[in-house]
Amino acid sequence: RFLHAAIERNAAFDKVSEKDVAFFEQVLGSSGVISDPDALVPFNRDWQKKYVGNAKVALRPRTTQQVSELLRYCSSRRLAVVPQGGNTGLVGGSVPVFDEVVVSTAAMNRILHFDEVSGTLIAQSGAVLQALDEYAGQRGFMMPLDLGAKGSCHIGGNVSTNAGGLRLVRYGSLHGSVLGLEGSGGDGRVLDLLRTLRKDNTGFDLKQLFIGAEGTLGIITAVAIQCAPRPASVQLALLACPSFQAVTATLRAARRVLGEVLSAVEFLDQACSHLATRHLEGVRNPLVQQLQPLEGPQGGGEGGAGATHGSADAQSAPFYMLVETHGSDVDHDQQKMERFLESVMSEGHVTDGTLATSEAQAGAIWRLREGISEALVRRGAVYKYDVSLPTAVMYDLVEVMRSRLAAGGYGSDAGVLVVGYGHIGDGNLHLNISAPRYDDALLSLIEPFVYEYVSRHNGSISAEHGIGLMKAQCLSYSKGAVAVELMRRIKEVVDPVGIMNPYKVLPPR
Ligand code: FAD
Ligand code: MLT
Ligand code: ZN
Repeated sequence: RFLHAAIERNAAFDKVSEKDVAFFEQVLGSSGVISDPDALVPFNRDWQKKYVGNAKVALRPRTTQQVSELLRYCSSRRLAVVPQGGNTGLVGGSVPVFDEVVVSTAAMNRILHFDEVSGTLIAQSGAVLQALDEYAGQRGFMMPLDLGAKGSCHIGGNVSTNAGGLRLVRYGSLHGSVLGLEGSGGDGRVLDLLRTLRKDNTGFDLKQLFIGAEGTLGIITAVAIQCAPRPASVQLALLACPSFQAVTATLRAARRVLGEVLSAVEFLDQACSHLATRHLEGVRNPLVQQLQPLEGPQGGGEGGAGATHGSADAQSAPFYMLVETHGSDVDHDQQKMERFLESVMSEGHVTDGTLATSEAQAGAIWRLREGISEALVRRGAVYKYDVSLPTAVMYDLVEVMRSRLAAGGYGSDAGVLVVGYGHIGDGNLHLNISAPRYDDALLSLIEPFVYEYVSRHNGSISAEHGIGLMKAQCLSYSKGAVAVELMRRIKEVVDPVGIMNPYKVLPPR
């Protein structure tokens, strides 16, 4: 399943022996070494329960020194290693493919420094994003990224995947907000780049190599990050749009009218709204009057954007958008939001809308958007594609895929749903195909078609989730041969024995 069949264990890697476990216990103490098969289950299985490995040991270092010692030893013993943060990754990068040693950052969660003047934060890589945001919040700042997995994902995992998330449109990518980092290469050499300077033009910016490397070079042990001032005023609107063209027109208006205070622009189609309200407890769409569950024998009735499938759909719009502002003056921001709403409603781009009037209401609206991935997993098997495409035409891919699968016998009557949502402000579409079960014939209708489509439209096959195991054999759809060769050479320098996260990101030679 998922190309596992096509991958063979690299025989150059040795297997973990009792002697190795004894060494690990000597470095970490017995509490830092997990080898009980039951206790290993969560380390071997990803968030979607789609990728399952067979690690015999998981390690929980507490310090950079320990990480360095472990990697030096694993290199000398040719033991393959998979770094693991919160294990919320969506491309199979964080779990072993075979029997790699899992090195988890869960015990490396200390906050090391916070500068209350500049808002720079230094933390160990296993600190949970939400905990860091709460810490920064108590000091008038916020983390410059936010995502649905914030309660579990680690900052080291975020940096290693170069996670995008819900507010990239305003606060930019981690390539900008990570000021410094510390990490160990695969050979155990510690690279200390833990600076908090905004400006530092002193040759190659080596930290950038680790941002988005998905654990293929080494293990990030600490991160220095620029927090943003926490906004005094937050406005959030949930809007209903009659077409995807209306969604893009609303995005343009948001940029024009809301300007510098715009902090998020997200979209979801009708099917996503139904999925989230149906499969998640307590989640509702305040713009949909009737919330009768319509689940048919095979999930029929959930429909797709623009389609009318039963009475609940008749009450809901083809698309929804979340438009949020972060500013410093409530009156000013409210005025701007009102002007924006008047403009998009008078032009017919928005047919209905609601403004959150409390933090609780805002949280409930965000839950509708952030809960989509969980709702999809609850419904059954999910084929996830996270692509960048020209914004104006990005939803075409959802419609093309829907028609293609229906023509191949995988329409909604077969329980297959093709849905689209994502970070429209960043040109990032999440195309998800939900099916009752994983099915090779269905997969062969989706891939490589989806990657060819994205490549033909000059898009990216991974906007923010990374390549991991899922797309390692497809990298060439987005990267040329010279770039891939350079990536390999850089890996050879930083991870000379090649133990770090094998089978991931780089295609097999
Ligand atoms: P893991 O899943 O543990 O690891 C991810 C990758 O990084 C693996 O390849 C792993 O080997 C490597 N890695 C982890 N820690 C280290 C380290 N310290 N050093 C070196 N390598 C390391 N992603 C987005 O970009 N935007 C979103 O909006 C978003 N929303 C999500 C919502 C949900 C509900 C879920 C489940 C996932 C979402 N994701 C999103 C994907 C995922 O949360 C992110 O990729 C996140 O950054 C992963 O962090 P993690 O700590 O869980 O890393
Ligand atoms: C999101 O934007 O919700 C995340 O990237 C997760 C997902 O795509 O399912
Ligand atoms: Zn996303």
